[in-house]
Amino acid sequence: MDDEIETVLWTQDQIAVRVDQLAKEIAHDFKPPACPPVIVGVATGAFLFLGDIVRKINLPILVDLVRVESYGFGTESSGSPVISSKLKIDVAGKHVMLVEDIVDTGRTLSCLIKYLESEGASSVSVCTFLDKPTRRKVHFELLGDGKFYRGFECPDYFVVGYGMDFAEKYRNLPYVGVLKPGLYQEASLPKN
Ligand code: PRP
Ligand code: MN
Ligand code: MG
Repeated sequence: MDDEIETVLWTQDQIAVRVDQLAKEIAHDFKPPACPPVIVGVATGAFLFLGDIVRKINLPILVDLVRVESYGFGTESSGSPVISSKLKIDVAGKHVMLVEDIVDTGRTLSCLIKYLESEGASSVSVCTFLDKPTRRKVHFELLGDGKFYRGFECPDYFVVGYGMDFAEKYRNLPYVGVLKPGLYQEASLPKN
């Protein structure tokens, strides 16, 4: 797989350092007497970041997952994310923190914040490993006194690794990189 990567944007070591910093920031912001948040990872992309960061947050947090998809097998969002697996934990009256691998157009987050609001969450924070603010199509507002945390601002490349896929591949790369040109042309994609 490494030979399919054109450029490495963040190495495994750089990721580990940044995840540590974010976890410290979160642990500080939610330390008692504040209530520990329900951490909600957004499957599939957030699975590695979620696993790494929750192990570093030394608070009695709860962890749950939702599954949302909008990119399918392409590099462009379908425009309408679908929540295909909902929460197990009842978040009514609780502080929630969504954990994402990347925020791009903002559609996934916007959809999830509405969902959490309808479930009665008292605040929604977001912790995303990468943020591509230049690609934002949808404005979303955090709920209550929720905060926004991000690992790195990402340039406008289609990135893979550390949970992020292209047609479900490359998620297990321990670093984040840009695919070589030609590997992600629509013509070469499986149809679904
Ligand atoms: C990707 C990524 C984010 C979302 C961000 O998920 O993991 O969840 O897109 O894009 P947006 O801000 O434009 O909504 P995807 O839909 O590819 O599903 P996946 O996590 O299973 O790969
Ligand atoms: Mn995702
Ligand atoms: Mg994807």
